Amino acid sequence: MILDGADPLAVLRAAQALARGDLLGLPTETVYGLAADAGSDTAVAQIFKAKGRPSDHPLIVHVAPAEGDAAVPAGVGHYAATVPGFAEKLIRAFWPGPLTLILPRRAGMGAAAAGGQDSIGLRCPSHPVCVAVLRQAADLGVFGVAAPSANQFGRVSPTTAAHVASEFGDALLVLDGGPCEVGIESTIVDCTRGVPVLLRPGAITRGQIEQACGQPLRGKDDMAAPDPRASGTLEAHYAPTAKVRLMTAAELQKALDLLGSEAGRTPGVAIAVYARSALVSLSPKVMLHAMPADAEGAARQLFADLRELDSCGVQLIWVETPPEAADWEGVRDRLQRAAAA
Ligand code: TXA
Ligand code: MG
Repeated sequence: MILDGADPLAVLRAAQALARGDLLGLPTETVYGLAADAGSDTAVAQIFKAKGRPSDHPLIVHVAPAEGDAAVPAGVGHYAATVPGFAEKLIRAFWPGPLTLILPRRAGMGAAAAGGQDSIGLRCPSHPVCVAVLRQAADLGVFGVAAPSANQFGRVSPTTAAHVASEFGDALLVLDGGPCEVGIESTIVDCTRGVPVLLRPGAITRGQIEQACGQPLRGKDDMAAPDPRASGTLEAHYAPTAKVRLMTAAELQKALDLLGSEAGRTPGVAIAVYARSALVSLSPKVMLHAMPADAEGAARQLFADLRELDSCGVQLIWVETPPEAADWEGVRDRLQRAAAA
């Protein structure tokens, strides 16, 4: 059932559902989450079950923004044992917003959400409907809300309430907060290794993080310690049913020319390019689709575009390789994973 997130009564019902230990489809500025009370291991177990996600893959716990003069939200102290200085700088710079920090976990807190690890992923989102739910839930004794993206394990993340309903059916309560502004999941920085380590690129870029914390951001490949299990960082992820391939504009045109001469026997192909395309296709089975030419717009549209092209029943989705520029890293990352499936 989809309820309007602008309705205060719907927000109250959502918070009450969380306090009861039920699941909730929750809008955030990045993607919609499948939410449950992070303080209840049985509620969190339902998330893993509904998603078909292995229960040792850690989830992100969402906390309400800080009140008054405080810089660090109260929920952080609830779930994290310590906050290193550079992590606090990142909190001041980017929260509420699309950044997740991995922090040392407070003993006994959020064990199921953390997938058994001794760290916890915390995020303070900015979406007004999400913030209203988190505040209301805190009043009911729910101090953190575990929420992975609201999609079946390995599939494309949802950026509208309707996407969530199509993944989990009508029985799930979903708050509609409109289409997500950011469109790809939060940037994740591991703050448990003494230096900041980028685990997942997102809308907040490397450069912005380095500037805010005043030190270089490492990549996880620079680090000796093994990575924690992390499904958003698996090689093959975010996959539609059709096979995704990345190609340059020149490769796309070459492939189109080949298809043209095979008319009649060609498989259904959807081709997604940035901005208006000069591509020419002779096959009626080829669908050309223009995506936004700016990194922010492309991120916002990415998952909805993949879902839409997939729903046309094509066997192949050929996507133009995104630009190399730093602000395209999140989109590049998601497309490479979609293509690896
Ligand atoms: O934008 C987002 O972050 C969305 C929205 C709903 O907030 N949430 C999201 O959650 O993407 P999820 O559960 O799909 O992403 C969880 C990822 C894991 O795959 C892992 O990469 C990282 O967060 N993570 C969470 N807790 C961790 C931990 N304790 N140690 C290492 N990585 C962790
Ligand atoms: Mg996910």
